[in-house]
Amino acid sequence: MPKTGFVHLVGAGPGDADLLTVKAARLIAQARLVVHDRLVGQSVMDLIPKDAELISVGKESDHHIMPQPQINALLLKLALEGRDVVRLKGGDPFVFGRGGEEAIHLAQHGVGFEIVPGVSAAVGCAASTGVPLTHRGLATSVRFVTGHMRENDGLDLDWASLADPACTLVIYMGIANAGKISERLLAAGLDATTPAMLIESGTTPDQRVKATTLAMLPQTIADHHFHPPSLMVIGRVVDVGAQLAAGLGKR
Ligand SMILES: C[S@@+](CC[C@H](N)C(=O)[O-])C[C@H]1O[C@@H](n2cnc3c(N)ncnc32)[C@H](O)[C@@H]1O
Repeated sequence: MPKTGFVHLVGAGPGDADLLTVKAARLIAQARLVVHDRLVGQSVMDLIPKDAELISVGKESDHHIMPQPQINALLLKLALEGRDVVRLKGGDPFVFGRGGEEAIHLAQHGVGFEIVPGVSAAVGCAASTGVPLTHRGLATSVRFVTGHMRENDGLDLDWASLADPACTLVIYMGIANAGKISERLLAAGLDATTPAMLIESGTTPDQRVKATTLAMLPQTIADHHFHPPSLMVIGRVVDVGAQLAAGLGKR
């Protein structure tokens, strides 16, 4: 019976390898076996040793290559074989990453693991577009919200509490439901002219950004063909981005 292995649940950040934590970069550079999602940035994938074993369990909304229970079972099997597994996940493992489910499965079977945090897409995209998620006088809180619902049949969110002009909303996985999201927030009282921003493939060489308004979000997505992975940022802080533009990235 081999000695039980260990699983490192590692956040790969939003795309740019320079945004990896020092610990994540070290684990990736030393990895012998990597189980990764499709969202892990190419520049991060390039840091994996060429002779390491790679297993892709890539998932994107509606394109699940491997269902979650199978991913859980795979991680457990590899650990029970005595392997040291780097489980590489986009952004942060515990922010809409199902890292909790993987960790619970390992814990239930007595397998050791650690969580290595990563820069979540909201934080990475905010930095790369110059939109502060909170800002004195404009936003006293920020909420990370999923725009993707199980079975794809309804967005069971507390719209009244989300429609707070002093709170920045960052919607993950919401592109396909942008029409419903915009409609519900307007119905709950958020102003139609509330600034909004779309960010596709943030922090990568393919990053695309478009500023719009809450009412115009669905139209902007259609006109400019935004696709996953994209974030929607809704709130007054989006306008601060324009003020930062003159200096952001300037040397
Ligand atoms: C399954 S969630 C994973 C989130 C990840 N755990 C995190 O902390 O960023 C995938 C969603 O995150 C968002 N996302 C991830 N990376 C992104 C990026 N580089 N640019 C824009 N959105 C991104 C998109 O909304 C995408 O559909």
